[in-house]
Amino acid sequence: MGRSESRRYCTPISPSPLSSNGLNQTQFYYRNDELYCEKVRIAEVAEEFGTPVFVYSASRLKENILGLLSAADAASGRWRVSYALKANSNPEILKVIASFGLGASVVSGGELLIALRSGFPADSITFDGPGKTEQEIRLALDNNIKAIVVESEQELETIADIAAEREKLARVYIRVNPHVDAKTHPYISTGLLENKFGIALEEAEPLIAGCNYPWVKLVGLHSHIGSQITESEPFAEAASSIADFVRLLQSKYGIVISEVDLGGGIGIPYHGVVRDARLPVDTASGNSDVPEFATYFEKASAPFAGLQVELTTEPGRAIIADTCALVSTVLYTKKNSARTFAIVDAAMNDLLRPSLYGSYHQIVPATIDPTRQHTVTSVVGPICETGDFLALDRELLSLRPKDTIAVLCAGAYGYALSSNYNLRPRAAEVIVFGSESEIIRDRETIEDILQ
Ligand code: LLP
Repeated sequence: MGRSESRRYCTPISPSPLSSNGLNQTQFYYRNDELYCEKVRIAEVAEEFGTPVFVYSASRLKENILGLLSAADAASGRWRVSYALKANSNPEILKVIASFGLGASVVSGGELLIALRSGFPADSITFDGPGKTEQEIRLALDNNIKAIVVESEQELETIADIAAEREKLARVYIRVNPHVDAKTHPYISTGLLENKFGIALEEAEPLIAGCNYPWVKLVGLHSHIGSQITESEPFAEAASSIADFVRLLQSKYGIVISEVDLGGGIGIPYHGVVRDARLPVDTASGNSDVPEFATYFEKASAPFAGLQVELTTEPGRAIIADTCALVSTVLYTKKNSARTFAIVDAAMNDLLRPSLYGSYHQIVPATIDPTRQHTVTSVVGPICETGDFLALDRELLSLRPKDTIAVLCAGAYGYALSSNYNLRPRAAEVIVFGSESEIIRDRETIEDILQ
């Protein structure tokens, strides 16, 4: 299909009533022992496009977006939903998300440009991150984005200088650090004072009270306490402390905050996503009961009762993670007295999460062979590091060379965190819509990366 032709998976579907955020429902399922994504066999995708390949379900993506939008509409308060591009910035995926009217949360000049090119309106884009360069600040100002999120006093001064020099009004949010424990992996916990993010409330108060730059307009507050948050309490706690801060600014200084962005972080279940009686039981250790979207919005809205504030949530993972499986082929197996290994053609350069955070991703075969035994297997990649694994000591249906496997929930921080480590070309990305599949990013070639 040529680039200019309309893409069917981009067409928004009309909202359908969803009972919840669709937990444990998935567009990946078994029929006649074959794993499907929508109506396409995973084994067929592997044959057609090769492996490793990220395979996305367009309808799951739409369900996630609609689930969020309808929960946001139903909640009290005025909510906007933005998408955090850092989770996945494939341009075709972005076009689908933008077509539903979501805003965009970006963290670099590159993400800002791809958001604009993918159809997110400039006035829906916020620019987060603790270290924006002068060049990135200029880019944000020149494109009249919704707000630059300020993470330090020095950054505010730099923005004020650049705005004055260009005579461009800078709309800014101040990112506050509410010192709330998100109860997630320490590497993705961002709302504690020992984390590098935001400005402590005590320091934010004098900064905001004294914010008097001719070309800076302070319109909002921002806070993001972490990612893969599987309890609603930390969200409620952060929202409550920010709502109190909004009231304090109003009563003590007469400063009216009209926009509050509560960041992203809604967790998803990574266990038991695809089930079949023949597969080893994929037990949920601790994250099967993540809050539904409705609970998140209720808890986060409640503290703002009585305030005239537009609220924004900016999830990445909850929109894209469970839409995708990383499909890989077993190259070799080997066994010693300590372990059984399956060496597959996907590695930590394709999916870094298990190596970096010890993250769990369910792994299932593309075809169930009922004669296979359950075997405790370590699924590892070809990279020359012991930390290169997709699963360690996992009970799986035993694997053999040439088997195709699917590593589930790989859509968020999967391709986005991939690299050319060991000079390995990045994987291809394919989207499935109904019974059709289409490549949305070509596999890199060795020549591409040797340039
Ligand atoms: N907003 C801000 C300011 C953020 O820093 C993030 C994520 C988000 C929104 C989106 O968070 P989400 O809804 O996706 O949880 N690589 C890690 C996750 C890093 C998250 C960084 N910030 C992982 O693979 O788990």
